[in-house]
This record gives sequence, structure tokens and C-alpha cells, in this order.
Amino acid sequence: MRVVSGIQPTGNLHLGNYLGAIRNWVAMQETMTSEGGECLFFLADLHAISQPHVPSELAANTREMTAALVACGVDPSRSILFNQAQVPQHAELQWLLNGTARMGWLNRMTQWKDKAGKNREGASIALFTYPVLQAADVLLYQATHVPVGEDQKQHLELARDIAQKFNNDFATEEAPVFTLPDPIIPPEAARIMSLRDGSAKMSKSDPSDMSRINLTDDADAIMNKVKKAKTDPEPLPSEKAGLEGRPEAANLIGIYAAMAGISVDSVLSEFGGEGFGKFKPALGELLVTKLAPINDRFVHLRQDRNALDAILRAGAEKARTLAVPTLEKAYAALGLVRG
Ligand code: TYM
Repeated sequence: MRVVSGIQPTGNLHLGNYLGAIRNWVAMQETMTSEGGECLFFLADLHAISQPHVPSELAANTREMTAALVACGVDPSRSILFNQAQVPQHAELQWLLNGTARMGWLNRMTQWKDKAGKNREGASIALFTYPVLQAADVLLYQATHVPVGEDQKQHLELARDIAQKFNNDFATEEAPVFTLPDPIIPPEAARIMSLRDGSAKMSKSDPSDMSRINLTDDADAIMNKVKKAKTDPEPLPSEKAGLEGRPEAANLIGIYAAMAGISVDSVLSEFGGEGFGKFKPALGELLVTKLAPINDRFVHLRQDRNALDAILRAGAEKARTLAVPTLEKAYAALGLVRG
């Protein structure tokens, strides 16, 4: 088994990233350690240049996000933690896969449509071909499992389509070049929504910081954001079915359940019939208690730039070694002469 996943180092790590993906990374790291598989987790800095960015901020965010991942429990002595820019094989494989990916497939990507909006002509080519780089990220390592939130499912399906077509066109059934990766999406918390709008996902790119809980927020900020979170005037229902048509309530209850490690029904059996006046402080306190140790570790780790650079350097060295055999196979399959 090989687990591979990435995160863009833009802005802060937020609760959606944590519950949708990072918590699963850490859980899979535990499984792999005991079962002998391998985990590779990376900062998708090459992806981050697909949209306008400030170079000095990207460099700082890459280190900060590294500190945040380690604070969440990603252990560089058990998992390979690196940034894409130090492993040129990602970009090389992307180019090789560009011959296989189809314009029509990329045109259907909802993230492309959302991010380019009405300004497709002005969007970067990198934004359009971004999912091909994402396919290269996982196919390069023969990933079997890719832990992600719901919003990445379509990109992973595309990675499978690209792998399948490449194998069909350039390899034999007995000796395929690429493994088809399976997305691992948590059954609960696969899609954490904005605190200000239950129909929009919690996101780093939302201009309002009140829309998300950052893993770097202190206790006061967390309590305040939960207190101001959008809700409706009804009391909480006693059963899950009663959350239908109440996206904000469903989101807050879902966050509580995921953070406490209990089912939505158990949360409702405790808070059913109560108003948000009672539920919100309980949710705020739960978040503060659970996130405080992560925050403490993060504040400590982020100060040591040399240590963070050393983690990324060592991780990249291991990643390059694992990447080379598949890349060479892909070159050879395409008939590209490598001396
Ligand atoms: P990114 O940086 O937007 O998000 C990182 C991870 O967090 C998950 N996530 C969420 N989960 C639940 N609720 C939310 N509101 C929420 N917001 C984000 C995402 O699903 C993701 O798992 N393209 C990817 C990065 C990437 C990647 C890869 C991932 C590049 N190459 C290869 C997996 C494999 C992205 O932009 O994620």
C-alpha cells in the first residue's frame, strides 16, 4: 500500500483541511507504520502558482504549512514530507501525461470552472492543466490510496482515467506503467462548509476570515467565530432527518460530531430541543480544547526555519528516489530515448 496526498500552501490550514484530509493522513500514517506501507505527503507549491501569488508569501506559507502539518501529527520520521518544487519528477511526468489527458476531460472539471469563472481567456494555462499535475503527483509514486476531502474526488477520477488510457495506449495488461489510485474520503466531515454560508465550502480563498476556523486561531478567535456563525431560529432537532434543509445547523452539528469522534445522532440526542445559545458555546469549547495542543506545537515549530527546511530537504531526497523508476518507465513506454 502506498498513501499519497497533498495540500496547497496558500493561506492557513483550516478546519475543513483538517477534518476532510489531514486527520486521515495521520490515521493512515499510523496504519502504514504497523502494516509496512508508505506515506508521502507534500506541499503542492507548484499548484499554487496557477493563480496570482506573491513569491515571498508562497515561500513563507510553504514553511508555515509544513509546521502546521507536523503540529497536526504528520511525523517526518515515519512519513515522507516534502514540497513538489524539490522533486522535479512531478513536473516532468505532468508533461508526459499531457499527451494522454484530453481537453474535454479538463473542460469538465468543476474546480476549473469555479476558479476561472467568466474569465477563462484570462486564466493561466496552469490553472487549466492543474489536474494533470495532480494526476502526476499520485501516479509518480504508484499511489494506491489518496486521502482527500470530497472536493478532490473529481480530480482523482481524472487521475484514474489518465492512468487507464496511458496503460491502454502504451503498456500491456501484464505490465501496466501506472497503478489506479483509490480516493479515501471520510464518511463524515468530507465537506465542511463556511461558517457564514452553509452552501459554500470552508475555504482558504474566502475573503472573510470569519467564514473559517484556522488551526492557528487562538481560543478567543475560535469562540468568537462560532458565536457569530450563521444559524437559523429553530431549536435543534432530535434526529438527523430534522437537519434536512438546514445547512448551517447540519454543518455545525457535523463539525461537533467529527471533533468529538461521535455520530451526528449522538450529538442530537444530547442537544436536540436546545437552541444555538446552548450548543454554540459547547461547540466552541470543544474546538478550543481539541485544537489547543496543535496550536501550541505549531507556534513552537514555525519559529525554526532551519529545522523546517531540513525536514523538506530530507523528504524530497526520499521522494526523488521513489519517483525515478516510474518516471523512467513512462519515458520508455512513450518511446523517448534516454541514453
Ligand atoms: P487543498 O489545498 O484545497 O486542500 C487540501 C485538502 O483539504 C481538503 N479540503 C476540505 N475537506 C473538507 N471540507 C472542506 N471545506 C475542505 N477544504 C479542503 C481537500 O479535499 C484536500 O484533500 N488539489 C489539491 C492539492 C493536491 C492534491 C494532489 C491532493 C495537489 N496534488 C494530489 C491529493 C493528491 C488541493 O488544492 O487541495
